[in-house]
Amino acid sequence: MSEEFTGRASAARPDGPSRRGFLRGAGLAGAGLVAGTGAARAASPDPLITEVQPWAQFLGDGVDAAPYGKPSRHEAHVIRRNVEWLTADTSSSVNFTPIHELDGIITPNGVCFERHHAGVADIAPQDYRLMINGLVDRELVFTLQDLLRLPRENHVYFLECAANSGMEWRGAQLNGAQFTHGMIHNCMYTGVTLRTLLNEAGVKPEGSWLLAEGADASAMSRSIPMEKALDDCMIAFKMNGEALRPEQGYPVRLVVPGWEGNMWVKWLRRLEVGDAPWHHREETSKYTDLLADGRARRFTWEMHAKSVITNPSPQAPILHGHGPTVITGLAWSGVGKIARVDVSLDGGRNWQQARLSGPSFDKSLHRFYFEFDWDGRELLLQSRAIDDAGYVQPTKDALRDFRGVSSVYHNNGIQTWHVHSNGEAENVEVS
Ligand code: MTE
Ligand code: CO
Repeated sequence: MSEEFTGRASAARPDGPSRRGFLRGAGLAGAGLVAGTGAARAASPDPLITEVQPWAQFLGDGVDAAPYGKPSRHEAHVIRRNVEWLTADTSSSVNFTPIHELDGIITPNGVCFERHHAGVADIAPQDYRLMINGLVDRELVFTLQDLLRLPRENHVYFLECAANSGMEWRGAQLNGAQFTHGMIHNCMYTGVTLRTLLNEAGVKPEGSWLLAEGADASAMSRSIPMEKALDDCMIAFKMNGEALRPEQGYPVRLVVPGWEGNMWVKWLRRLEVGDAPWHHREETSKYTDLLADGRARRFTWEMHAKSVITNPSPQAPILHGHGPTVITGLAWSGVGKIARVDVSLDGGRNWQQARLSGPSFDKSLHRFYFEFDWDGRELLLQSRAIDDAGYVQPTKDALRDFRGVSSVYHNNGIQTWHVHSNGEAENVEVS
């Protein structure tokens, strides 16, 4: 891109040769493209190009203004939000990731949704202890310093609360991807595998289950089969490169890749090896899914393939009018990678393959795009994820046929947004 294009040169000499230089530059840039998308407007006099703007007239903040940086003040609306009527108290509640404002696959730490049963525990790193006991050769206690002496790994995983989309079982309810699908985040975790930790303690042959316990008032005790623990579980002390946020379990949380969020015990303080799941803690040891016939499914830990279009969506209408339009969204599977995402503009009658972009990791969010020329037609937008095990994301009706409408958990049905001709979008269902 030519120097004239940076704006600084043209701002310094609004009426001088640089303006002509800018137009010339624009012409050259245009000539270099084979065929434009039509996304830009034709160059015409615009004070934002030709006039010196305030931000070029004065010095800005110095390097001491923000020792820990924050997003631009113009992005102040990009925040976690909660739904007040959902819970009686905010300390046993949930807020939602603003997925309609994000791109790529990584969730910035400050907007990772929070789900607490007893609020955020505030633990000083020097007071942190992790105990391993039960059916082990050596009962052990680790300080944070001890954990930092063990070999580390880095992995990107999504965490989805089993209750994500749970309010939508009986019909379209919440008007925004943030609220229907925002109980999810995707971070790079740095930590130590449970395999490494459990090897230190030596699991006895009959040790087939693990109880994980949090240090907060809820304890959040969860039973995890030893097979999963030794497969890919880890304890993490860093997320996206920095220390875990207090909300996410500082200083250490459990990472249970691809499995429902409630097992990812935060403020982890104890791992007990046993020979059975902890039935005496039945009421808290797992979630269940109530079926159409009144029976309940248990131990439904895996999060099945799911996707959602984040833009456009009710909180993110199409603002630019007709013409080139980018549809984007997220897809994920607790089983592995996403092999393909399809997009429908007409409520699932016709499907076209979307474009995946960005790294494709196991049990991680995947980003998809679908570019098309919008003529102002009303749309019934849907996305459908297919994972590398061949599982195809079901419609909501197909799910209800099997699961009824009394469930809260594991709603991975296809979401529909009705896009009106003015670009506004609405949560609807089609059948
Ligand atoms: N761990 C503890 N100790 N206490 C909790 O309340 N909530 C669980 C899980 N781990 C919880 C916990 C639930 S239900 C979910 S969905 C995830 O943490 C949410 O993780 P997050 O707050 O990082 O989004
Ligand atoms: Co949860």
